[in-house]
Amino acid sequence: MENLLEIKNLNLFFRGEEKEYQALYDVNLTLQKGLIHALVGESGCGKTMTAMSIMRLLPKSAFIKSGEIIFKEENLLKYKESQMRELRGNKIALIPQDPMTSLNPLYTIGNQLVESIRAHSKVTERQALRKAREVMDLVKIPDASGKLDFYPHEFSGGMKQRIIIAMALACNAELIIADEPTTALDVTIQKQIMDLILEIKNEIGTTVLLISHDLALVSNYTDSISVMYSGHVVEQADSKEFFRNPKHPYSIALLNSLPGNNQAMRLKTIMGAPPSIQENITGCKFHPRCDFYEPGLCDTEEPKLTVRAGNHCSACLKF
Ligand SMILES: Nc1ncnc2c1ncn2[C@@H]1O[C@H](COP(=O)(O)OP(=O)(O)OP(=O)(O)O)[C@@H](O)[C@H]1O
Ligand code: SF4
Ligand SMILES: [Mg+2]
Repeated sequence: MENLLEIKNLNLFFRGEEKEYQALYDVNLTLQKGLIHALVGESGCGKTMTAMSIMRLLPKSAFIKSGEIIFKEENLLKYKESQMRELRGNKIALIPQDPMTSLNPLYTIGNQLVESIRAHSKVTERQALRKAREVMDLVKIPDASGKLDFYPHEFSGGMKQRIIIAMALACNAELIIADEPTTALDVTIQKQIMDLILEIKNEIGTTVLLISHDLALVSNYTDSISVMYSGHVVEQADSKEFFRNPKHPYSIALLNSLPGNNQAMRLKTIMGAPPSIQENITGCKFHPRCDFYEPGLCDTEEPKLTVRAGNHCSACLKF
């Protein structure tokens, strides 16, 4: 299957007052065309920084020391800012956690959709308006035509998120990066938005990078999955294989902590909290919390992400 995007050995640092702190360690990620790939892990593990590296919208104090981000065979890290601007919102669209950050409260939805369509393709206003109606229908906004004159605040959170997805579709985005797209929404609406993302993948063939801290939420939607811990990808596999046969102790701990997952498994949360990037943990970053920790091994050697079978990879010294 064809790869749309490939991150290779990405190392990202923050400049602190006195020293540099590493936030991403040799991150590798492959997004196959037309599939949903989930990136999961606890807060602070580096999901958003990975997404922002692709978009090249990093905070000022962050810098990429090494690595490649190959999108359609070109390394985005070599792109000029003008080329990146061309790509953002066009070929690659970001759906953020809070939809208000991408919608302008001062303009109607119709206006914003038409502007954005015309900025990305040479069409007349009338053609752009037709396309705007089309994508509003696609994301199932009831009475789409009548809603074009509405301002963002006249929509609920779930409807705003649908409009952002409509914007991505209006510009024919090939890759949608959804960074916790439903965290701000209630559970029923969460499911509706996830169903919509799945439908779009199935009908239009858009590739999706789905970022979430919620393994239970993504489990029904994703084709493949990467688990991150403290700046490292610790496991990567096709979803079916991952949920049937998780290998890394952190993934297993995450799965065990899901409510109602497996009756045979005792429900428990993972003890302790992930380290901050300032903490210097030797060996495997997960060792202070790992049930399988082996002194003299896990606190000394750094595990590398290694192929276990097919495309199932794990970064653990024992599993
Ligand atoms: N502007 C910043 N300056 C310094 N450190 C930062 C900054 N932004 C993020 N970090 C650090 O980089 C690491 C990765 O952050 P990131 O936002 O990618 O985490 P995340 O996995 O998206 O978490 P969450 O689930 O909370 O969104 C964290 O340890 C965070 O403290
Ligand atoms: S390397 Fe050791 S501490 Fe790290 S996940 Fe594997 S068993 Fe646990
Ligand atoms: Mg984040």
